[in-house]
Amino acid sequence: MTSTVYVARRLTDAAMDRLAGTGWDLRLGGEDPPTRAELLAGFAGADAAIVTLTERVDSEVLAGAGPGLRVVATMAVGFDNIDVAAAAGRGVVVANTPGVLDGAAADLAFALLLDVARRVTEADRFVRSGLPWVWGPRVFTGLDLSAGATLGVVGYGRIGAAVARRAKAFDMHVVANAPSREPGTSADGVDFVTLAELLATSDAVSLHCPLLPSTRNLIDRAALATMKPGAYLVNVARGGIVDEEALADALDSGALAGAAFDVYDGEPRVNPRLVASPRTVLTPHIGSAGLATRDVMGNLVIDNVEAVLRGGQALTPVVAKG
Ligand code: GLV
Repeated sequence: MTSTVYVARRLTDAAMDRLAGTGWDLRLGGEDPPTRAELLAGFAGADAAIVTLTERVDSEVLAGAGPGLRVVATMAVGFDNIDVAAAAGRGVVVANTPGVLDGAAADLAFALLLDVARRVTEADRFVRSGLPWVWGPRVFTGLDLSAGATLGVVGYGRIGAAVARRAKAFDMHVVANAPSREPGTSADGVDFVTLAELLATSDAVSLHCPLLPSTRNLIDRAALATMKPGAYLVNVARGGIVDEEALADALDSGALAGAAFDVYDGEPRVNPRLVASPRTVLTPHIGSAGLATRDVMGNLVIDNVEAVLRGGQALTPVVAKG
């Protein structure tokens, strides 16, 4: 029997071409995220659903799908938008696209780090303002990453490690914190430390942990207060990891020199205080937005659905964590 596959949003051209050749009965969403009603209707009676990080796949959506639903495959590495436990309870496989976007995400984290530390976007805005300027010894000075600055990497999975490699290539000292790494040990030229030590000693901190109950507001007001004065914060992971009001206060007071964010709590809304701050660089969740990367993600999300619908295992099923 033909499988009904809901595709919540239009994927890459290559992925759409491949989907068209599968023979599945496709229910195709559009360019923009579906409304809640569209999402519920898309899942109802489907055998498989392809979603992205903008769709909240909770127990209501899963229950509304009916007993035929076998797999929910998301075109993202993060899956905090999916109720994995509710899916498991219904025997629905959840799969994501890990491993194929590490380079793209690490590139963006490093681009944001360079940008905010050397004030690239701020200087660009200044030039475009048309104000007169002349070279000056004190004009637009920023942090020299390659003069012995320390980068603190929070979360040392594939993406965190890829950011660390980039930082080492810039002659930075790299410290990292991750649940799986014992403070006091080292690997890959990276020193593992407690989160408290990382925050206190890093000139810049880059976040690479998933959003979990245990990491929500990990960088809260108290944590921000322990950061090195004049440090920078980069976040390409998930918005809920940082208390953005407390961050705005730290930027306004000058306690932190800058923040560069690609992800936001409650996105696509961006905290207006972060938008108003001259000390921020803000991008619209484009961490995996390399052209080639998106094609590989599109292929993997279809591979996962195909494998399950054929009675096999997803290539990259998610592993729920607390
Ligand atoms: C992007 O944020 C992803 O999770 O893939």
